[in-house]
Amino acid sequence: MRGIYILGIESSCDETAAAVVRSGEELVSDVVFSQIATHQAYGGVVPELASREHLRAIIPVVRKALEDAGKTYETIDAIAVTQGPGLAGSLLVGLSFAKSLAYAANKPLIAVNHLEGHIHAVLLEERQKGKVDLEFPMLALVASGGHTHLYLAENRENGWVYRNIGQTRDDAAGEAFDKVAKLLELGYPGGPTIDFLAPHGNPNAVKFPFAQIKHRDRNPENRHQPEEQRVDFSYSGIKTAALRYVELNGMRATIEQRREVLRNIPRPEPEDYLAHCDKQTLDLVASFQRAVVHDLISKTLSAAEQYGASTLLVTGGVAANSELRATFEREAYLQGLAVYFPSRKLSTDNAAMIAAAAYPRFLQGKFAAAELSAEASLRLA
Ligand code: KG4
Ligand code: ZN
Repeated sequence: MRGIYILGIESSCDETAAAVVRSGEELVSDVVFSQIATHQAYGGVVPELASREHLRAIIPVVRKALEDAGKTYETIDAIAVTQGPGLAGSLLVGLSFAKSLAYAANKPLIAVNHLEGHIHAVLLEERQKGKVDLEFPMLALVASGGHTHLYLAENRENGWVYRNIGQTRDDAAGEAFDKVAKLLELGYPGGPTIDFLAPHGNPNAVKFPFAQIKHRDRNPENRHQPEEQRVDFSYSGIKTAALRYVELNGMRATIEQRREVLRNIPRPEPEDYLAHCDKQTLDLVASFQRAVVHDLISKTLSAAEQYGASTLLVTGGVAANSELRATFEREAYLQGLAVYFPSRKLSTDNAAMIAAAAYPRFLQGKFAAAELSAEASLRLA
């Protein structure tokens, strides 16, 4: 089929991924090699191990993505790669490989911001479903292990532009899921396990209060209207509250018991965790998830109202959460807003989103310079 075929490469954290996307609207191949097994024993991503694993995986992953797409280095039109944000060593593996490949195959190279990628995961899939008329202004919530950011997104003549109107002041939402799971010995990453366990507990059992963090942007350049307020998040408090609950309710012994049992299961599945959770743990997990979901949704919807958004995009690893999806859909509908999520597969890190975000840049000839380097703290806006 005719079109522009972009090979995307993503290595910002603990997934080595490559994909081929046609003209920003058709997912042709999508390969993700997850390093979860490597990091699970440490309860989080170990940067040195991540870089080493990326080095091992990058060539087979890219080859498989091309093979699955029926493409070769010669028949793709461009190479897109994640420039940042992410772990410096991990980013460098993907970026160095993409640069060398672009040079050797004489193809243009396009640098993509990982967060922009998450936003384009939704747009890619909607275009693939035939939906091309999403209304502006769009408000995108990117909730992942490293970010909880709100962006207003617009497609202008000279490309996509983003405006950051809120973000977490401390931990990201996904990070809170991971830390609470670690506290309760529920493995890594915590999000998918908590998602699975939550329906088995009482979400109203433990009360977690959240602060409203609305304030005027101190930078006058960011303030388009005098009354506009930033909508920030904070998730380190809930982690501390969960820890306090554990201590006050004498849960240490059951946590230790679970650790002992699960140590003997090589790759525990969510069902294994469920089999070793008492009611108190399930109630805590369900209440934690309810509180985070409620906070994410109420702040995002309040931002949507304040900034007059017509469309809501919810993306990043946390967008895979079942309760978040169901509640968002219900609440956004009540507010008269259309809300779009990526499929679960494209919610978490992948390279299809990188190839999709690169397409508008390809059309505008925005190619990376030879001196392109990885940027661990790259900002989107
Ligand atoms: O986007 P992502 O794959 O990587 C980053 O860019 O960080 O997001 C990973 C994060 C992890 O914190 C993980 O626990 C969380 O997304 N996550 C979830 C779910 N699946 C992944 N959080 C809640 N519910 C889920 N189903
Ligand atoms: Zn991500």
